[in-house]
Amino acid sequence: MRIDDGVKREILARADIGEVIGAYVTLRKRGNDLVGLCPFHGEKSPSFHVHPDRGFYKCFGCDAKGDVLTFVQKQENIGFTDALRLLGKRYGVEVENEDPRAARVRSEKEAIYHANEVARAWFHRMLLDAGEGAAARDYCTNRGITAATIGAFSLGYAPDAWDGLVGELRRNDVDLELAAKAGLLKPSQRGGFYDFYRGRLMIPTLATTGETIAFGGRALGDQEPKYLNTATTPVYTKGRYLFALNVARRAAAKEDSAIVVEGYLDCIALHQAGFANAVAALGTAFTPEQAHELRKIASRAILCFDADAAGVEAALKSIEVLTAEGVSAWALHIPEGKDPDEFLRRNGAEAFRALLANPIAATQVKIDAEIDRRGSRTEGGALARWAEETIRRLAPPEEQDRWRVYAAGRLGLSIDDLRRARLLVNPAHFAPRGGAANASRHVVPAAMERPSFEREVLSIVLDEPALVAEYGDRIPPERFEHPEHRRIWETLRGHARSLVQPSDVLAVFAGDDDAAATLASVSGVVRWHDTEERRAKLDRVVARFARDDAEHRYRELDERLDRILEAGEPVPADLRAAHAALAAELKG
Ligand code: UTP
Ligand code: MN
Repeated sequence: MRIDDGVKREILARADIGEVIGAYVTLRKRGNDLVGLCPFHGEKSPSFHVHPDRGFYKCFGCDAKGDVLTFVQKQENIGFTDALRLLGKRYGVEVENEDPRAARVRSEKEAIYHANEVARAWFHRMLLDAGEGAAARDYCTNRGITAATIGAFSLGYAPDAWDGLVGELRRNDVDLELAAKAGLLKPSQRGGFYDFYRGRLMIPTLATTGETIAFGGRALGDQEPKYLNTATTPVYTKGRYLFALNVARRAAAKEDSAIVVEGYLDCIALHQAGFANAVAALGTAFTPEQAHELRKIASRAILCFDADAAGVEAALKSIEVLTAEGVSAWALHIPEGKDPDEFLRRNGAEAFRALLANPIAATQVKIDAEIDRRGSRTEGGALARWAEETIRRLAPPEEQDRWRVYAAGRLGLSIDDLRRARLLVNPAHFAPRGGAANASRHVVPAAMERPSFEREVLSIVLDEPALVAEYGDRIPPERFEHPEHRRIWETLRGHARSLVQPSDVLAVFAGDDDAAATLASVSGVVRWHDTEERRAKLDRVVARFARDDAEHRYRELDERLDRILEAGEPVPADLRAAHAALAAELKG
């Protein structure tokens, strides 16, 4: 077969050599180059260089060199034409006109991807079509779904007819039996096929590699069922994929965190409001496969859940699954039983951002659930003991102190009640000491002694309480290691608006001896000249958080890269990109 020279040029222009080679070789950024262990000869120290700007690679060890096509040929052990096909497919360059019969002999999966693709494109055109799509477009308008969003998610409309998609599939030489296997059609009694989706807003799910693997069809009115979904097919199993992961991937990797919602339209609304790292689990609690997929991209998941019993149950299950896969789980409780979509429409993106700024720790979700489940069964002295046991069961040891303080607050227990409970549960843990002022010393002795930003921050706002409102959002309580400092900061933030004079701070903690003692001990640690000086200090604290985070993540990624390199496994492109981006950030 003769292939036009233009095809080769186009592929060389479009293919990202770093990305292609990066799928086989772990590359790390060094200057403008990417460097790794040469795949063509055994070596222990990297001498394989890729020059993304100039589109070639060269190994200084074995002298292998070439462009992206030579690399793929050599690596995959295939000929030039097949290398063109492989890259052509990946970068959307048509290498040859495909014979429709040839399409049929491709594997069944490929054929289903193709059928789904034909359907997705047709549904999308139908939604944009002046006549057919009018009602569905109105539906989108009423729900505030913009044209840009329709494009970004490739939303579509399945017209209210029995043979609309059937016709389109026929026109594209798609085998109808296969389309039925793909879940697009149903076999009719008379031996033919009819459209499975009729009169519905169509929401395609794409794999991260770009193939259309499933659809959800939303009724435009209150027909039942509200959603019709692709059931299990050769390319799709419910619960194994996350909706919108293909779109959210980059943002989630960059933020190292994904927002997880239940519904299609919640997810879409979040993206439209600028939350580009949202994905949806589609009405199920998280499955291990989904957690595994997510883990490849981000290490944090923020679950949005309803406060009703079913929502809490689902959140608890998801937390369990995510934690088991090594994803750190957080939760957002969407107020008033609204789903994220309704919340956004009613309160706007900024309100959601505010929720997002204070995600609930997984441990708190668990403790809250226990407390709510408890009802009024346990009371009096047994209550503190019950709390102590619950915390020991649910919280990691290094976090238990802050959860004691938290649970005490929720249960109306005093710090003394808790202390007694701890003695009862484990006397050795707690040597009796006099004086409430010293209480927190027992809790985290090391943190107390360490000169830290925590005391300085508290000292500053004790001098000038109005700064709490100004810096409250930028200094999240989680940054405080010392549980008592954290609790005080948390409380202050909760009262930010009423804090004007130093006496206001003391009023907030009236009757709270522990807090009063801590505040007394931090007051005047440093003398700050004026507001500007105080602000400058707080700004430095905030800036250091960002840098600490970046350094921490960089170290983590670096260690991960080392482990993967040592194991000789391919490094996920995201990991490499994140590593390079962080390195650049830290340098700058
Ligand atoms: P919800 O009933 O909360 O719907 O189901 P929703 O996402 O808020 O949809 P709108 O806003 O009413 O349009 C949550 C998710 O559960 C799945 C869908 O994935 C849905 O997005 N679901 C729900 C179904 O699969 N089938 C149904 O009949 C209902
Ligand atoms: Mn909804």
